[in-house]
Amino acid sequence: MYVPSDDTFLLADCIREYSGRSALEIGVGSGVLLNLLEKNFANVAGSDIDLRALEHCRGRSGAMLACCDAASAFAGWFDLIVSNPPYLPDDEVTDATVHGGPAGIETTIHFIQSALPLLARGGTMLLVVSSLADSSALDQLVIEKKMHKKVVKEKRLFYETLSVIELSA
Ligand SMILES: C[S@@+](CC[C@H](N)C(=O)[O-])C[C@H]1O[C@@H](n2cnc3c(N)ncnc32)[C@H](O)[C@@H]1O
Repeated sequence: MYVPSDDTFLLADCIREYSGRSALEIGVGSGVLLNLLEKNFANVAGSDIDLRALEHCRGRSGAMLACCDAASAFAGWFDLIVSNPPYLPDDEVTDATVHGGPAGIETTIHFIQSALPLLARGGTMLLVVSSLADSSALDQLVIEKKMHKKVVKEKRLFYETLSVIELSA
């Protein structure tokens, strides 16, 4: 299970600024972000592909949890969808908590495509993106789907720059 790190805490700082009726987190890990969402949203849901992560969250969170790929188990609309996806480039996804595909961005794109049909009108997606990943395919998707992209927070570490981007339709 992913141990909360700089990327988790950067996204946490952003999540605190949002409130609404319903929120979804894709890739909940230890559940620290779920707990934050529960403070500002009436209905919170979360997914992870790792059953052990969900077992860890059960009892620590009142969110509706599903062990599934991305947002595939969910229907309806969410005002906020968040994810700190695996983003390290690697030809093989040997560790699904950190490896995001050959360019590092493939899993992020998969999460966005899975989540987009669930985004409420006026809703927002918040995602962690790393400078270690090649984000050109993400920029292409933003253009294709006619989404708006904004960097809401950035943190420079000595080996990478982490950004939280906001996507809206
Ligand atoms: C970088 S960790 C983030 C965990 C936690 N949200 C945090 O910020 O500390 C990415 C999480 O995504 C999950 N994950 C990877 N592939 C997934 C998929 N296809 N569908 C759902 N969750 C996935 C991993 O198991 C892991 O818990």
